[in-house]
Amino acid sequence: MGAPGVGKGTQAELLSGRLDVCHLSTGDVFRAAGERRDRDQSPAMKEALEYMRRGELVPDSTVWEMVRERSSCILDCGGFILDGFPRTLGQAESLKELMEKEKLSLSAVVNYELPLDEIVGRLSGRRTCEKCKSVFHVTERRPKAEAVCDHCGGRLYQREDDRPEAITVRLDAYERSTAPLIQFYRDLGLLVPIVAKGSPGEIVARTMDKLDELAVLRGDDDDRRTTLHLAPEL
Ligand code: AP5
Repeated sequence: MGAPGVGKGTQAELLSGRLDVCHLSTGDVFRAAGERRDRDQSPAMKEALEYMRRGELVPDSTVWEMVRERSSCILDCGGFILDGFPRTLGQAESLKELMEKEKLSLSAVVNYELPLDEIVGRLSGRRTCEKCKSVFHVTERRPKAEAVCDHCGGRLYQREDDRPEAITVRLDAYERSTAPLIQFYRDLGLLVPIVAKGSPGEIVARTMDKLDELAVLRGDDDDRRTTLHLAPEL
């Protein structure tokens, strides 16, 4: 969890590689759907993409439909990271019900924290590869050649919802609908706050240390602790 642009996607990618678990980003799912041909998009998806362009949250029913279609990531992969989901209390309740039904539990809810001015700087400087979707930043994570992806040579573009007017709407939606989830997960004893300052490598190391600490505190089984310790260094 964390405000738009705090670095959730960057961290989720690094963490899923380290922990060898499935990474499900609802934002990526919607963006991929937006690239399909018009006639291949359902009316619900077209409506969802309009919400997204404006920076508003997509209705819970559409989001849950998308997550359920991809529930194999949660149920069959031996571990998962959810990135950008849940984002409302309704979504959190749906997830809880699914997990209880499947006799699964969340290990932790990582909440990345950063001052607002730094968040806005990360959002407005973000550039994404149109081919492989790698994420860069104009000053913090610069591509070797301007506007060209280091990995596949694709063109880098600015996301439509990273325009200043959409950023304001997204930050507002976060405060209204998503910030209350912090208390929800704190009450369940799952919240792990992490300061999102520093380089992506420093933040992922901080996160791994916290998760490791938690596993030891909870006395989780040796296998899990081994998994955390054996994750390769960045
Ligand atoms: P989504 O894609 O989830 O957007 P978001 O939450 O607004 O988050 P972002 O992807 O903008 O940022 P991030 O925190 O992942 O940061 P990143 O790592 O990219 O959702 C988009 C839209 O889809 C929503 O607005 C909504 O409409 C819809 N949606 C999705 N899920 C939904 C749901 N569950 N319910 C309802 N609607 C939903 O980093 C940002 C930039 O900072 C990058 O340039 C990066 O290179 C840079 N950076 C990262 N880490 C660092 C660092 N440590 N130092 C310096 N720069 C850094």
